[in-house]
Amino acid sequence: MMSRPRIVSGIRPTGSLHLGHYLGVLKNWVRLQDEYQCFYFTADWHALTSEYKDPSIIKESIREMVMIWLSVGIDPTRSVIFRQSDLKVHAEFFLLLSMITPLGWLERNPTYKELREELKAKDLGTFGFLGYPVLQAADIIIYNADRVPIGEDQLPHLELTREIVRRFNYLYGQKLLKEPQEILTQAPKVPGIDGRKMSKSYNNAIFIHETPESLKAKVMQMLTDPKRKRRTDPGEPDDCNLYPFHEHFTDENMRSHIRKACRDASWGCVDCKKVLVDNLEQEFTPIWEKIEYFMKKPEQVEDILQAGCRRASEISEITMHKVREAMGLNQCP
Ligand code: TRP
Repeated sequence: MMSRPRIVSGIRPTGSLHLGHYLGVLKNWVRLQDEYQCFYFTADWHALTSEYKDPSIIKESIREMVMIWLSVGIDPTRSVIFRQSDLKVHAEFFLLLSMITPLGWLERNPTYKELREELKAKDLGTFGFLGYPVLQAADIIIYNADRVPIGEDQLPHLELTREIVRRFNYLYGQKLLKEPQEILTQAPKVPGIDGRKMSKSYNNAIFIHETPESLKAKVMQMLTDPKRKRRTDPGEPDDCNLYPFHEHFTDENMRSHIRKACRDASWGCVDCKKVLVDNLEQEFTPIWEKIEYFMKKPEQVEDILQAGCRRASEISEITMHKVREAMGLNQCP
């Protein structure tokens, strides 16, 4: 296990995980465990950069998020699962990296500019928010990560991470820190129930943790092909908001039947939705059962996070030891 290349990735705990996370992030994380030594963490300090005015959401989301990770197959006997804020060395490293990171690199960061515009109501003109990618760099480099599974939107942050590594190595010694490479994960093309991008802030998300009733209600509300006004009108799966879900949850035989039955109007949208509800239920019932199990055993989740913290601490201390030495600092007394 030790010789496998290492992966680090985190999710900001700012609300419930939805099908976009499930398809775009978690299924990959589960798969990657076969090939890599994985470090997965809740990025709670990153969440604070935008939620500092009302942090209550963060604490709740961490619990639920970790239960969901465990329930979809993130395996604590193979992967290290931890809370970022338990590892104080991330903050120490963030501070030290901030000494060598030119302001211009952060001000030019496209994600910074975009998010500040998008979240105007949240007052993101803070030092912490500007420094977000430096903290992310610390998260990654401190574990000597080889690869980082991320979506395209995070590429500028990884590029910045590599620039910081190069600058650190240039200043304090070649090859002290490792430059990580991305594993680019495709964002799944599943819209929210109103046809816009699935997002908790649009109130259009199907969450991983639904009840059979709420799941069914959401699917039944979903927009389909807008041109198909009457049951007898033929539909077009390629113009339908629901059909992309079948691409993920329905087998090819049934899919080809659906495409035909939609185009010749022998099926209505309700028929098609019922198949999707059944398939989603089949996929998520075992996951829901595990979530129920962990809800009754919060101490088991806490134990996993504590063990993850110890393991993450062992590895990150090795890097910090080198870093403190390189920068002429005392080791911890
Ligand atoms: N910025 C990432 C996001 O919003 C979350 C994150 C924080 C992260 N630290 C990381 C991802 C380290 C990968 C590696 O999705």
